[in-house]
Amino acid sequence: MTYNVTIQANGQTFTVEEDEPVLDAAIRHGVPLPYGCRNGTCGTCAGKVVEGEYRYPRQPKAVKQGNIAEGDVLFCSARPLSDLVIDVQLVEEEAAIPVKIVPARVEALERMSHDVMLVKLKLPESQRMQYLAGQYIEFLLRDGRRRAFSIANAPHDDEFLTLHIREVPGGYFTHYVFHDLKERAMLRIEGPHGGFYLREESDRPIIMMAGGTGFGPCKAMIEHAIETGLQRPIELYWGVRSREDLYMGELAEQWTKDHDWIRYIPVLSEPKAEDNWSGETGWVHEVVAREHPNLSGYDVYLCGPPPMIEAGKKAFLARGLPADRLYFDSFDFSEGR
Ligand SMILES: Cc1cc2nc3c(=O)[nH]c(=O)nc-3n(C[C@H](O)[C@H](O)[C@H](O)COP(=O)(O)OP(=O)(O)OC[C@H]3O[C@@H](n4cnc5c(N)ncnc54)[C@H](O)[C@@H]3O)c2cc1C
Ligand code: FES
Repeated sequence: MTYNVTIQANGQTFTVEEDEPVLDAAIRHGVPLPYGCRNGTCGTCAGKVVEGEYRYPRQPKAVKQGNIAEGDVLFCSARPLSDLVIDVQLVEEEAAIPVKIVPARVEALERMSHDVMLVKLKLPESQRMQYLAGQYIEFLLRDGRRRAFSIANAPHDDEFLTLHIREVPGGYFTHYVFHDLKERAMLRIEGPHGGFYLREESDRPIIMMAGGTGFGPCKAMIEHAIETGLQRPIELYWGVRSREDLYMGELAEQWTKDHDWIRYIPVLSEPKAEDNWSGETGWVHEVVAREHPNLSGYDVYLCGPPPMIEAGKKAFLARGLPADRLYFDSFDFSEGR
């Protein structure tokens, strides 16, 4: 059975299969609904169902935890039970790049630290992927599972797509990447995805807060800003456990030497004695909040583990940051996908 979904604001209509998430159908039809994790955790895809019925196959985490507004529906999880009219803020035109599935060859695998692998992918010459700095791709695995990873290089430098992949203990895909994946292997990827990309039309100063491999998409955005001569003040706060986790700290230091509009503040939550660390310690969002008691004039980008994103969102909105200037990608894992 197929249903029609109509966007209330502009009357645009697309079809969705009975057991298909509304968001998946929107992506398939090129309708620019906002989204992040695609698994019911981050809340980015929330909107209202104005007419019609829907169901969730299981209650999404963001609903369970009360992280979305009363009456909001998560379109990445909702399946239609009838035709729907929905009210949702569409993504700006520039981010609505067609999503495609392409084969990707593993060009290089490089260990960056004890638990981070740099994976360099080469796409067929005829099928380069257009994307915005900060967006992510998904690996489509043979058994139907999907795994999301942010692109860590800027679009101008797109001969390869590079990813920074952290090994998740017991993780199905990341264990494979660290222990079995070989150079020249072929994988399938889908992208680009996500609403986490640099808003270039703004003239406000930028704060980026990265946790762990959340550094990757921030790197892509900063390299894009350097390439395009953006020159808006950027402060990058990078939170990790100990010094060994700052797997590209030297590159970040170099940015600050070459460009006086970039500031880099590494923050260690569990420095080791041998780190001889005299820099910032503690939770990275607390360091940002301490240095910026008033965030009303900033654009803020957050990327990394879900607890860091949640803590950052709360702290920064409480310091005057307007919600529509808070952009984030929460590195949620794929529940059942
Ligand atoms: C939009 C987006 C972009 C992402 N970009 C990156 C990136 O650039 N680099 C990167 O390293 N990761 C990134 N992630 C997270 C990454 O997708 C997951 O860590 C990955 O899917 C884990 O796959 P797996 O098969 O190894 O683990 P699974 O087998 O799916 O997970 C096994 C168990 O490990 C735990 N787990 C898995 N992942 C996480 C996690 N991230 N945090 C906490 N616990 C976890 C869960 O308990 C899970 O049940 C991104 C996630 C999203 C949604
Ligand atoms: S909750 Fe739907 S995209 Fe994250």
